Amino acid sequence: MAVTAPTRSPWAAPLRLLERDERLFAVLLALVMVGGLATLGLVPLRPRHRVDVYSLVIWFGLYKAGILALVTVNPRATRRIFTGALCIDLLLVFSLLYLTGGADSPFVNLFIPLVVVNAYYFGRWVGLLLTLVAGLLYWTAARLAPPDAAWTAVAVVMGQLGLPAFALGHVADRERRARAEVERLNAEVSGTLTRLQAAQEELVEAERMATVGRVVLKVAHEVRNPIAAIELNAELLGDMVQGRVSEDGTEATALVGAIRDQVAALDALTEEYLAFARFPRPQFDEDSVNDMVTAVAEFVRPLAARQGIGVKVATDATVPPMEIDRTLLRQAVLNLVKNGIEAAPQGGTLILTTRRVDETVEIAVTDSGAGITPEVGRRLFEQFFTTKPQGTGLGLSISRQILEDHGGKIRWVSAPGEGATFTMTLPIRKAEHA
Ligand SMILES: Nc1ncnc2c1ncn2[C@@H]1O[C@H](COP(=O)(O)OP(=O)(O)OP(=O)(O)O)[C@@H](O)[C@H]1O
Ligand SMILES: [Mg+2]
Repeated sequence: MAVTAPTRSPWAAPLRLLERDERLFAVLLALVMVGGLATLGLVPLRPRHRVDVYSLVIWFGLYKAGILALVTVNPRATRRIFTGALCIDLLLVFSLLYLTGGADSPFVNLFIPLVVVNAYYFGRWVGLLLTLVAGLLYWTAARLAPPDAAWTAVAVVMGQLGLPAFALGHVADRERRARAEVERLNAEVSGTLTRLQAAQEELVEAERMATVGRVVLKVAHEVRNPIAAIELNAELLGDMVQGRVSEDGTEATALVGAIRDQVAALDALTEEYLAFARFPRPQFDEDSVNDMVTAVAEFVRPLAARQGIGVKVATDATVPPMEIDRTLLRQAVLNLVKNGIEAAPQGGTLILTTRRVDETVEIAVTDSGAGITPEVGRRLFEQFFTTKPQGTGLGLSISRQILEDHGGKIRWVSAPGEGATFTMTLPIRKAEHA
């Protein structure tokens, strides 16, 4: 066979084979028992003890090698293989005893490795059981091949077997328990480590987002001053060109109008970022939800009309005045309304409704847009998630935050192609008068 790679030590491979406990155990037992048998052959046996030790050692060695091979190819059946081998070993020793003089036979010593090493593998109680069985076999062999063994001789044999078997079995049991505990702790620690790692990754991501947030905040803040200046100048320019009854004058008025629209959009965008970054604490005052919703509808009606979208309002007169932060709640409704207008097609409609349901008030915004696909639906409230080229992806997350600050919730329903309805639920809270 060609050697493909230089190995560090010729013992490396066999030693690796012995890394598993069971195989080591099988090898040890084989060595000790075959060795025990072989040493009996070193001294000439008395005539009545004589067996062909030489061929016995060879056959026994082959049998043990077979056991080792079986355990190696089928490690799952190790326990069954060892139990079977143990029974065969016991019977073998019993036969040797019977054939070589019963109570006098030197082969009784073979019980020692057999019982002790098996006690190590199967535990102390099996060790004690084996001691009993071995004593019984010894006594039976002596009965069948007289002279009988005196009970003291049987007791001595059992003592010699039982004490080390129990002690070794006890140590092995303890070691197995300790190992199981270490493995359990190990699994626990690696689970904790994985969770820790995940938390750390989240923290890094959060830190990154916080940095991005700070930069965005700064940019938004810095951009507001030039925007205000542009807005002012555009207004002045508008005043100057307005009323000029020439072709250029009319065109200039339209251009200035377009500039002011875009500046207003830019202003709203920076305001949205800043509002998000500031996250003001709500200041609750008793106010009318119906009024606020109607005012929002009136506010957006001209913009919606320009896009050919009709705005309808249906308020429930039983909605009572309640504790709200009108500015924040208006922002929350406005974000939904903006989304509805952005989603609705030319000629579409947007419906705002309020409704009292027990001790809560619902504000619903329904649009006639293309609806929300399941993929988008899963990520709707994610910060910075947007499908719009000009979107910031903050509208819905801000609305949800505001609702939560009011102790309320936000839910939505949509079927693709049939528009969407976002419903905000607010608990009715009354001012506490002392
Ligand atoms: N009424 C709706 N119909 C269809 N899709 C919607 C509707 N409302 C929200 N969405 C989807 O959810 C996404 C996130 O909405 P969100 O309001 O948070 O951000 P945005 O509208 O993209 O940006 P911003 O509101 O900050 O300008 C939108 O990009 C859109 O894809
Ligand atoms: Mg939006």
